[in-house]
Amino acid sequence: MLKMKDILDEKDDRLRMISKEVEFPLDEKDLKNIDLMVEYLTNSQIEEKAEKYNLRPGMGMAAIQIGVPKRYITIVEEVEDGFDTYVVINPKIISNSIEKIYVEQGEGCLSVNRDVCGIVPRYARVTVEGQDIDGNLIRIRAREELAIAFQHEIDHLNGILFTDYIDPKNPMKDAEKYRAI
Ligand code: NI
Repeated sequence: MLKMKDILDEKDDRLRMISKEVEFPLDEKDLKNIDLMVEYLTNSQIEEKAEKYNLRPGMGMAAIQIGVPKRYITIVEEVEDGFDTYVVINPKIISNSIEKIYVEQGEGCLSVNRDVCGIVPRYARVTVEGQDIDGNLIRIRAREELAIAFQHEIDHLNGILFTDYIDPKNPMKDAEKYRAI
């Protein structure tokens, strides 16, 4: 089971690496990592488990956040009747809306253990293409919070953190250009 100490902190240089394309079949270790990542994200969003295991809540995780420089991401989104889980290998954004949005109370990241306010412009809608764990081509249309999660996690694979987008001198810069969610 992953604990918070297993997740790299923003000061760790490995978070700046460009992760490598994944070849199929996945090895056992990557399959295990994916299970661990999904388990963490799910438990962290269930209050009593988050408390019991001391997990900071998060909806997305990229492999590099546990020190694995390979291109795969996991997202667990709370929905009405439970959780939707996304595992995408070699994900890329193949199309996006013109409209941009940002998280009004500030974006969060399991590797950034402090509150950071400021605008991170993201596409309101994206189509993500990649592969499932068996190597089948998958395509996901995401909007709003889920679209932000995909953009945030794919950024991790390219060594980018959400804090990179924020101008510390003017964190609310250009707010009027984007829609707050
Ligand atoms: Ni993150």
